[in-house]
Amino acid sequence: MRFADFMAAALYEPGLGYYARATRQVGRGGDFFTSVSVGPLFGELLARRFLREWLESGSPACWRIIECGAHDGTLAADVLGELARLDPQAFAALEYAIPEPLPLLQAAQRKMLGGFLGKTRFVTNAEELTINPLPGVAFGNELLDALPFNVVVRKSAGWGECRVASAAIGGFIWEDEHEITDPDLLAALAKLGDDFPVGYRTEVRTNFQDFLAPLTRALSSGLLVWPDYGFARPEYYQPARHTGTLRTFSKHRAAENPLNSPGNLDITAHVDFTAVAEAAIALGSQPAAFRNQGAWLTEIGREWLLSQEGQPQLDARRQFQTLTHPAHLGGSFQVLEISWNQAGKVLSAPDRHRLAL
Ligand SMILES: C[S@@+](CC[C@H](N)C(=O)[O-])C[C@H]1O[C@@H](n2cnc3c(N)ncnc32)[C@H](O)[C@@H]1O
Repeated sequence: MRFADFMAAALYEPGLGYYARATRQVGRGGDFFTSVSVGPLFGELLARRFLREWLESGSPACWRIIECGAHDGTLAADVLGELARLDPQAFAALEYAIPEPLPLLQAAQRKMLGGFLGKTRFVTNAEELTINPLPGVAFGNELLDALPFNVVVRKSAGWGECRVASAAIGGFIWEDEHEITDPDLLAALAKLGDDFPVGYRTEVRTNFQDFLAPLTRALSSGLLVWPDYGFARPEYYQPARHTGTLRTFSKHRAAENPLNSPGNLDITAHVDFTAVAEAAIALGSQPAAFRNQGAWLTEIGREWLLSQEGQPQLDARRQFQTLTHPAHLGGSFQVLEISWNQAGKVLSAPDRHRLAL
C-alpha cells in the first residue's frame, strides 16, 4: 500500500480513523496543541485579516469565509464572534462555510456553533460551494500538514518509494525501495535536486493542487490563507534533515513510527510551502505573502496591539506572546496568503525570496 493511502485510512476512515472517531485530539486533554488552543485571540486576529479583505474588495453585499479542518468549531466561533463585534455590516453579509467530510466532527461543529447556526453553512466538501461562487476567504489552520503524503528514500541510483505491508506476525511494516512510477511524485522529486546521501528518507505531497482547486472555484475572488508548520523547499529538503519531518502525536508526545497503532495517533509532516505556492500558480492564483506567524500576526494585529496600550489584559497579551514569539509558535509556523482573481496583489521581493520561487 502507498503510504498516502495508509495515512488517509489511519486518519480519516469513517468510524476507524484517528479524526473520524473522536474530537478530543486538540488541547490539554488531547494529543497536541494548536494556535486555537492558546485562546480566542488567534481567531480574533484572523477575523481582522478577513475583515480587511472584505473592505478592500469593496464591502460586497454577500461574501463567504470557508474554513477547512474546522475540527470542533472552536476557531469558527472565535472568528464569528469577533466579526460580529467588529463590523455588524460585514457580519450580516457573511456566509461562513465549513466543508467537513466526517459526520462526527460536523456534529461537534453544529453544537459549538449553536449561536451562529443561521450564519453557518455545513457541507461535506468544498465542491458543493462551487455552484454559487462568492467573493471571500478560504483558510485552514494546521490543515495542510494533515493532508496525506508519500515517503521516499534515496538509493545509490535515484529515489525509491517506501510502502506499507502487513507483517506476518500482525501489524504493519515498511517495504522500502519500491520503484517509483507515479508521474506526479517523479515530477516533485525532480525539483529537489540530487545532493542527498544514500538512505536519506523524506516525505512528499503531490495533492496540494487537488485540494486547492475546489476552494478557488467556490470563491469568485479573494484570499486563501494557510497557517501551518513548514518551510520553503530548500530549507525543508536539506541533506542534513535525513529522516524527514514525519511525526506522530499522542498525549503530547511526538514519535516517528506511523505504522504503530493506526487510528490512535495523529500522523503529520511539515508543509513544503514552495510546493503549495506552485500549486496555487498552476491554478491561476498568485502567492501574495509568506511570513512567519509572528510577523504575520503582528502586522494584522497592529490596531489590536495599539488598543492594548495601558490595558491590564494580561491573558490576551500572554496569548499574543505565545502565538508570535520566535521560540513559541511565531517562529515555527508560517503563513502563506494566496490571492485569487484579484488584480495588483504581488508577492514582495523578500517574500518571494523566502518562498524560493
Ligand atoms: C491538526 S487538525 C487542526 C484542527 C484545527 N484547525 C485547529 O487548528 O485546532 C487537522 C484537521 O484537518 C482536518 N482535515 C484534514 N484533511 C481535510 C480535508 N481534506 N477537508 C477537511 N478537513 C480536513 C482533520 O479532520 C482535522 O480536523
